[in-house]
Amino acid sequence: MPTQPTFRVEQTRHISEFPGPRSRELAARREKVVAKGVASTVPFYAAENDGGILTDIDGNRFIDFGSGIAVTSVGASDPKVVSAVQDQVARFTHTCFMVTPYEGYVELAEKLTELTPGEHEKRSVLFNSGAEAVENAIKIARVATGRTAVVAFDHAYHGRTNLTMALTAKSMPYKHGFGPFASDIYRMPMSYPYREEGAVDGVAAAKRAITMIEKQIGADQTAAIIIEPIQGEGGFIVPAEGFLPTLAAWAQENGVVFIADEVQSGFCRTGQWFAVDHEGVVPDLITMAKGIAGGMPLSAVTGRADLMDAVHPGGLGGTYGGNPVACAGALAAIESMVDYDLNARAQSIEDTVMTALKEVAGEVDIIGDVRGRGAMLAIELVQPGTGESTKEPNPEAAKAIAAACLKEGVIILTCGTFGNVIRLLPPLVIGEELLRDGIDVFTTAIRQVAATSA
Ligand SMILES: Cc1ncc(COP(=O)(O)O)c(C=O)c1O
Repeated sequence: MPTQPTFRVEQTRHISEFPGPRSRELAARREKVVAKGVASTVPFYAAENDGGILTDIDGNRFIDFGSGIAVTSVGASDPKVVSAVQDQVARFTHTCFMVTPYEGYVELAEKLTELTPGEHEKRSVLFNSGAEAVENAIKIARVATGRTAVVAFDHAYHGRTNLTMALTAKSMPYKHGFGPFASDIYRMPMSYPYREEGAVDGVAAAKRAITMIEKQIGADQTAAIIIEPIQGEGGFIVPAEGFLPTLAAWAQENGVVFIADEVQSGFCRTGQWFAVDHEGVVPDLITMAKGIAGGMPLSAVTGRADLMDAVHPGGLGGTYGGNPVACAGALAAIESMVDYDLNARAQSIEDTVMTALKEVAGEVDIIGDVRGRGAMLAIELVQPGTGESTKEPNPEAAKAIAAACLKEGVIILTCGTFGNVIRLLPPLVIGEELLRDGIDVFTTAIRQVAATSA
């Protein structure tokens, strides 16, 4: 039997005024010292974050359907994570693994060998952010293959550093004005079932991309294919069945490194340890971050030993990569994922939320698509049509629904190339009652916005 998570903060929604006086005061201070380029979704400032509730410094309690962008799957103050982190902080905060190694790093690498797909021999290397993991996966693939070209996909998001901006598809806000970008990156069409013109199944969509790779780059020039098994920022796009296995098989036949970027979809988020597990795909390299460490900044690349060990000693690393406190957080978070059986919980979240979303999608004509897996779920909003949806993106509706939810005390995030997708990423430890309360608010907001835009 899984252990039930316990919470310090009352797990109910409570809104008086927001932003309240203390948040307004902080906003004024922020204005004078924080760069405008870093924007925040909500106008209030956090006081506590526990389970499914985030409180602000004015005493409001919000339901958190964003998890700090898919990070706090075990909650933002899971008792096991808190105690492991406190214990490690008291022993030492840092040595730099490249100078003096420590057990937590090795133990976490052992865990990643165990949890990531495939029974082959593996190696891991740890970093701080998702973008850093992606950059390093590309470095490893290039050294291991002796090739340079890298394939990424339409709607992809891989980060904000120079190489990962080049891999990312969307210009505004991620790339706009920040070029020139890293070279030898090629973008291929994604399998996007809702927006596919005509009947293109997953295998056909993969073959379409493969033909383009062969013609435009050449298989023997291609170091790696990098893909999010479920695209995150691009709109929670779940490729059609067969897309990922067909690409992975082609990569294997051609000595191309298949990299699954599971930064957003990993660690129980989709109801499996990794999103590739849904189709039994075994990537050569896998990038992980976000949910891995209960909120501590940590990322990893795990992959085939022969590829990982192709890099010369000293070629990989960084001052803070695999920081001991972050490793302690990750080991504890993984333990909690097992104890609470968060894969099962993600699946039950899917049942509850999908039922509600499908019901509302049948009533309104601004929901073009309902999709996702586990607790990585989304609706794509379109302009109201007559009868059949027009598929014309409706980012205004997404914004209006998000604003209406926030007013009622539910934090939700938008995403998508067209800004017209609302994504739900609740902490996996959220209680059922709180989840249903948040979903009621969400579906009510959808109905209201649909009624006003009809
Ligand atoms: C799939 C994917 N890759 C990479 C990243 C970049 O991660 P980070 O923001 O930790 O650099 C993200 C972040 O949203 C992501 O979703």
